[in-house]
Amino acid sequence: MRKPIIAGNWKMYKTMDEAISFMDALTGKLKESDQADTVICPPAPYLATLVEKAKGSTVRIGAQTMHEEVEGAFTGEISPTMLKSIGVEFVVLGHSERRQYYNETDESVNLKVKSAFEHKLTPIVCVGETLEQREGNETSAVVSDQVKKAFAGVNETDASSSIVAYEPVWAIGTGRTATAEDANEVCAQIRTVLTDLYSETVAQAIRIQYGGSVKPGNIEELLSMSDIDGALVGGASLDPESFAALVEAGSNV
Ligand code: PGA
Repeated sequence: MRKPIIAGNWKMYKTMDEAISFMDALTGKLKESDQADTVICPPAPYLATLVEKAKGSTVRIGAQTMHEEVEGAFTGEISPTMLKSIGVEFVVLGHSERRQYYNETDESVNLKVKSAFEHKLTPIVCVGETLEQREGNETSAVVSDQVKKAFAGVNETDASSSIVAYEPVWAIGTGRTATAEDANEVCAQIRTVLTDLYSETVAQAIRIQYGGSVKPGNIEELLSMSDIDGALVGGASLDPESFAALVEAGSNV
């Protein structure tokens, strides 16, 4: 069985003081026996502090994006080696907000995915269709294409350790969740694409999260599905109580 992974994507929320209070509250609520992997992805200015705060707890820290190059004249960007040097372990790549507002493409996501592996960061690779694409019955084609392009040139060993997040764009921050069955169907399709790209063994090892308005009230049903191995959570990850409840749900699968 794949170990569930619950990741919180804070997006552009919280002050430093709020980030620190959150971590104190969360680590106080998590239990030693929690079985789910727990990741918090705060805004970049808090990464180093939260890596330190998370020491001795089960929480691990991820970045929300990164540049693919190690260094260079790229004003405002953050490199994989910078993340690695402060103890960050995960990086969210290709989030739909990055694709929508910052011109990230399947090609640039692929460069970042390969760079993350090269620098021993675990990518959380986001894919998902828009409402228009879903209504046009294009979900399967769009998501398959995003997965194939994101993993182009990635070897089996690296692929096995990756995380994929299926996030239908229309369900992000809208309160509209895909039904557990619909979400599972797409996650199963993603696994089939990964089987074709690699092998059954590799595809079975990769953890596929669902993301899009996940909250304590709907996570259990989502995680009870065969191909959903965790959640990437925005809004409901901002409150320690609700995030701890999500981790607990992930631990009771
Ligand atoms: P949401 O965001 O949980 O607020 O819908 C999910 C995400 O963007 O990763």
